[in-house]
Amino acid sequence: MALRFRRYFFEELPSTQAYLKAWAEREAVPQGTLVWTRHQTAGYGRKGTPWHATPGESLTFSFLVSPAEGTDTLTVRTALAVYDTLAPHLHEPLFLKWPNDLWTPTGKLAGLLTEAVWQGSKLRFACIGIGINVYQRSFPPSLRATSIALSGTPPTQVESLLEVFEAHFFYWYEAPVPKVQKRFMERLLRKGQFLIHENLIEGTITAWETEGFLRIETATGTHRYPASAVQVVWPPSS
Ligand code: BTN
Repeated sequence: MALRFRRYFFEELPSTQAYLKAWAEREAVPQGTLVWTRHQTAGYGRKGTPWHATPGESLTFSFLVSPAEGTDTLTVRTALAVYDTLAPHLHEPLFLKWPNDLWTPTGKLAGLLTEAVWQGSKLRFACIGIGINVYQRSFPPSLRATSIALSGTPPTQVESLLEVFEAHFFYWYEAPVPKVQKRFMERLLRKGQFLIHENLIEGTITAWETEGFLRIETATGTHRYPASAVQVVWPPSS
């Protein structure tokens, strides 16, 4: 049977990610379990950075999967599904920023976070959290953020995004790796500045290798870097 989401809604939660991870650590929670809220009060992103969401104006959710082949391509597959969900609502171009953000020229529209829990060398589960700015009309300038309302036309019901995301997610979850790589390179912000081991590098990402490397073409040739060491500097520093 095809995998589907089983959704659990909460009017308010500190963090859908913390809630679902704690639940799955306590007991066997089935794959596809999804927790969402309209008001997340203590959301977090990569490296523990706070994820700000104004009540009723964002879509924040987390779900569990346990891919047999591990987590190497999971964040990219999910980012492609978020892209396909949001792009039809926008009147601005949308792009993926390595490794886990979705931006328009106006600002950051959505972010995602993959956290894996292992038992020895075996993946117990991956918990994927997604935050999408939907109805906000203003943000503090320091956040450099946008919303669907600022960059396009939002849906009247925020949960309709979840339904559309579900179809896109399971499409990309099962897609063959070469197809994922190709589409990812088409959607990715490839040219720009990168901070790698504290060195600022100008170049163009020419390949994403699913073993965890990015190839970046620079004035001195093409170099292969551990993908986890690559930070995109965006907007670029002059
Ligand atoms: C990032 O930009 O660093 C990723 C942000 C991920 C935020 C989402 S919102 C839903 C889920 N719950 C959380 O606490 N974080 C993720």
